[in-house]
Amino acid sequence: MTLTPEQETFAKTALDEAVAKLTKAVARVGEKVPYTAHDGIYDDRSENIDWWTNGFFGGILWQLYSVTQDESIREKAVAYEAKLDRCLMNDTMLDHDNGFKWLPTAGADYILTESEAAKNRLLLAASNLMGRFNLNGRFIRAWNDWGTDDHRGWAIIDCLMNLPLLYRASDITGDPRFKQVAMAHADTAAKNFVRADGSCEHIVEFDPRTGSFVRIRGGQGMKDGSAWTRGQSWGIYGFALSYMHTKSPAYIENSRKIADYYMAHIPESKLIPVDFCQPADCDFEDDCSAAIAACGLIELSKALPDAIGDKYLDAAVDLLKALYDNTVDKDENHDILLTRCSASYNEENHNYPIIYGDYYYLEALLKLNNKGIFIW
Ligand code: GLY
Repeated sequence: MTLTPEQETFAKTALDEAVAKLTKAVARVGEKVPYTAHDGIYDDRSENIDWWTNGFFGGILWQLYSVTQDESIREKAVAYEAKLDRCLMNDTMLDHDNGFKWLPTAGADYILTESEAAKNRLLLAASNLMGRFNLNGRFIRAWNDWGTDDHRGWAIIDCLMNLPLLYRASDITGDPRFKQVAMAHADTAAKNFVRADGSCEHIVEFDPRTGSFVRIRGGQGMKDGSAWTRGQSWGIYGFALSYMHTKSPAYIENSRKIADYYMAHIPESKLIPVDFCQPADCDFEDDCSAAIAACGLIELSKALPDAIGDKYLDAAVDLLKALYDNTVDKDENHDILLTRCSASYNEENHNYPIIYGDYYYLEALLKLNNKGIFIW
């Protein structure tokens, strides 16, 4: 991965500003567990301790600690990680998003400090995730049932991002079961989620008893069969991560296939819509998709020879530069970085800050600067 001098200057400036801003935000956040923000100040979702995004502020803290070595940030990160124990100790609060919750918190802590408490949390979360594997369908069940909605046979593309919890558990324990389950799920995802044109599904429903395919669902995208952009980003980064942990060529091929589709659909503005199929006059955007895709594209570029990988690196830098120039909040008195994220196409609100957008934007800039820790 070699940046041009202009790309290097951009990467350094954007990272320095992001680190300075988030470091200030840390003091203001205090005990909060942020999800979105009001008037530029992170909100508090500690009442919903099982929400899938609750690991990301912990990830911001550990990444900041890794670059600043500021002990007060490490202490905050350890305290934040302990807050999630209320979730870890409640079976009904656990689902496939154990990876999103405990890789940026306990996982990052374990990488940096080898804390036994962090290792214990990581392995508990990994064992629970492995327990969601459906043997007949060879997939990891995504969500728990919501009210009367039966999700026993539902798998979602996002789950690829949770698989590194299993790869890491195998690395730590020397027990191959975790990795075997992760690869079985990744193989099922490659077969059932990735379409011929390189785009991917959000949800695939299987019969939970026989494991046979039932139907696809549009999920957080515009409709069944459309191309939810964050789902495409999870696919790019998720398959790249499975490649990094296994070196299985099928995973990098799937990551590249989705990346090529994604790059062919980036609008001229380089700002990412919520769905690549949404009407041209719809202004719904998802900065999170851009930041996650950038992370995946950078890893792809690192895994491939320069002659092939450079186009992925250039696309990643372009996405990040478009965020920096157009949507990053530069107000020193605000906590947030990205301002135009959307949880899903068919929700009421769009184009607002979401914590994981900020996390992945920071992670992508750290990658470009060869800094930070690799938590996945
Ligand atoms: N993992 C859920 C989402 O991307 O919204």
